[in-house]
Amino acid sequence: MENNASEFHPIIQVVNDCLKEYLEISAKGQESVVSQFPAKEVASKLHIKEWLQNGGLDASNVVGLVQTYLEHSQHMHHPKYIGHQVASHHLASGIADFIHGAINNPMAIYEMGPSAAVIERVMVNWMLSKVGWLPSGDIYDFDYDEAKGDGVFTHGGSMANLTALLAARAAVAPEAWDEGTPQDLVLIAPEVSHYSVSRAASIIGIGQRNIVSIAVDDQERMIPSALEKGIVDAKKSGKRIVAVIANACATTTGLYDPLYEIGLICKEHSVWYHIDGAHGASALISAKYKGFMKGVELADSMIWDTHKMLRTSTLAAAVLFKDTNSMINTFKQKGSYLFHEKENAGFDLMPYTIECTKAALATKLFWVLAAEGEKGMEKYLDHQYSIIQDFYQYFIDHDDYDCPYQPEANILCFRYNKGLESNAFQLALRNEIVKRGDYYITSAEFQEVRYLRFTVINERTSLSDIEELTNHISEIAPFLAGQFMELEK
Ligand SMILES: Cc1ncc(COP(=O)(O)O)c(C=O)c1O
Repeated sequence: MENNASEFHPIIQVVNDCLKEYLEISAKGQESVVSQFPAKEVASKLHIKEWLQNGGLDASNVVGLVQTYLEHSQHMHHPKYIGHQVASHHLASGIADFIHGAINNPMAIYEMGPSAAVIERVMVNWMLSKVGWLPSGDIYDFDYDEAKGDGVFTHGGSMANLTALLAARAAVAPEAWDEGTPQDLVLIAPEVSHYSVSRAASIIGIGQRNIVSIAVDDQERMIPSALEKGIVDAKKSGKRIVAVIANACATTTGLYDPLYEIGLICKEHSVWYHIDGAHGASALISAKYKGFMKGVELADSMIWDTHKMLRTSTLAAAVLFKDTNSMINTFKQKGSYLFHEKENAGFDLMPYTIECTKAALATKLFWVLAAEGEKGMEKYLDHQYSIIQDFYQYFIDHDDYDCPYQPEANILCFRYNKGLESNAFQLALRNEIVKRGDYYITSAEFQEVRYLRFTVINERTSLSDIEELTNHISEIAPFLAGQFMELEK
């Protein structure tokens, strides 16, 4: 087959028809959320070896391949997909993926994708304007200005956290770039920060032993007085603090740290303040919920995933800086073929990212905004943040369940309290639910107790789905408890 548009057009049409059917069935909840089979079985059903040996894809044989692939996929639009903090995404973001797949513009250099590069700058400005770091308020403001914030899209929140912490290290210990990371650096983070933060600490040479863990309260929010003590003690022992990190919101609970109090402490002690807003920064687009982000104006950097509450497909995040120079100074490295003084049009983002080649990530967000407008985005967020309160109420009114806290964002932990209550049993219950395929939920430890957990990220999930989930659990739990007791004998 020739690698050209005329040859591929019929194949794409077939794939498109398969996807339409899949998405419609999925959204109606007419099949399993996910069917899990052993990996070798999936490989053999997909005939991967045969495809590799023979090639030969065409419009007649692509149907079987795509249908099998979809059959063994997680159905993100199924109303009973209430799992991870990964968007049950807006299909408009798929337009970005489709166009990128067709034209493949690695836009970190302007001349390799002017449209995508411009869209990224505008999307960054749009996000900065929500934080309050774009004084002009003009999202077409592309000029260098010391008073402005700045930012760049990365392949996900983990990469965004790493980028922000590199910027913080460059501010605190600029010598680290040439000489390696000095031994007197520490990072201050709550006990419950996302693991990408501690990974970043090792990657940038600070090391696990130099993470100062700050105590959290009974809702796992960072305790400001403990933070203040942590900063003072670190300074007294001659350490330089690279950054203080706060959760907005915490991964397990969806609860926001006291961002404002933390920010005041950081200002008082002149410490870089980084907010991990991978999930919860989206509250900034909501008049009703943006109060959760009060204190963001005191931060020096923040990350914000778009493939969570901004409804894009995976994987895209922005790392944002209050001061444009923080971003500019992060990577003190020259590659003359890329970073030359330019006479041609546009801006190159490559000097500001870990990655070299970069996909047109921000176009995903643009297409969702193009479909929904800001108002539509706000409506979605408001709906997810408010409907979870109904679900919470349902669980606390139900005799068989406990919830350890009232949710703020759209993440809820709950625990089946009838019969066996051990952590192992809750985990086994979650695994059995997922194995049966009718629901997709997660599980997490909170205050060392294991809970069932879900993220209500799917606009289609309603209270009746939650009622059905509890009926489902009432059926599964006794059966599972029997198995557990047999094992314990
Ligand atoms: C608070 C927080 N930070 C960072 C991340 C990592 O983001 P990503 O999966 O986009 O790398 C997550 C992921 O859930 C998160 O909850």
